[in-house]
Amino acid sequence: WPAYAPLIKAINDLKKKRNAVILAHNYMTPEIFNCVGDFRGDSLQLAKEAARVEADVIVQAGVHFMAETSKLLSPDKTVLIPDPLAGCSLAESITAEDVRMLREVYPGVPIVTYVNTSAAVKAECDICCTSSNAVKVVESLGVPRVLLIPDEYLAKYVQTQTKVEIIAWKGHCEVHERFTADDIAAMRAADPGLKVIAHPECPPEVIAVADFTGSTAAMINYVTSKRPRKVALITECSMASNVAVQAPDVEFIRPCNLCPHMKRISLENIYEALRDMKYEVDVDPIVAAKARRAVERMVNLTN
Ligand code: 13P
Ligand code: SF4
Repeated sequence: WPAYAPLIKAINDLKKKRNAVILAHNYMTPEIFNCVGDFRGDSLQLAKEAARVEADVIVQAGVHFMAETSKLLSPDKTVLIPDPLAGCSLAESITAEDVRMLREVYPGVPIVTYVNTSAAVKAECDICCTSSNAVKVVESLGVPRVLLIPDEYLAKYVQTQTKVEIIAWKGHCEVHERFTADDIAAMRAADPGLKVIAHPECPPEVIAVADFTGSTAAMINYVTSKRPRKVALITECSMASNVAVQAPDVEFIRPCNLCPHMKRISLENIYEALRDMKYEVDVDPIVAAKARRAVERMVNLTN
């Protein structure tokens, strides 16, 4: 990425000056992911890194709920998000008040919250999960029934993997809900040897016809370890570009959808974030204390 070289150098210089690290989600564009990201991964890997990182400043190259999660796990560090409008349709789909209502409707049923929620929602829940540990988290509770909010499709996927009864909410990821089983059928018709790998935020009829379902890290692991001849990653567009760097012998077909929230993060605004120390992400201390319990309970479970 030679055109980006001056900006990449400026960012890497500022990281040293500020004693900062950049946590880059797997959906970041390749020049961010490969050239300035210090730690890369899925939501769980980034949360674990935020808990143990030794820098003074964390720049979250991801969306707002990820930056909040980093702040919960590293309250003494300055956490910056390069664009505060980098949201998430799942996080928008449920409020803390909705969760309080669910507690009244389902008294005594534990509430597991997907990490794609606000800190205020996490504060009302018993434990957090990500797409890579949702089944483990649900089963760790040792109860016959749990609420798993807010992603309806993740909840339905988890239901296929466990005997615990899962009660879902109606949130959806605006990126993954757009894939259809017909898309997959057309891809397979064009190439019968194709491996199809789907994120659990996809609709059930997509997951039903995929060869493998997993978090973004699990998808990368599948491709780099199994080295399929040709693969379709049913997820956000940057994934294929980022995995291709690690698996140059694999052919990717790219029926992807862009996440407009993830795509708000750019090299330019990462540079400005470090230059101007903006935009700082903070969580109200009372909310943070409760939300941290739910996130730490998950992190401790899967360490
Ligand atoms: P992962 O935890 O699998 O990286 O998912 C995060 C996300 O936002 C997927 O849309
Ligand atoms: Fe949210 Fe979907 Fe974007 Fe992930 S891809 S941040 S779940 S809108």
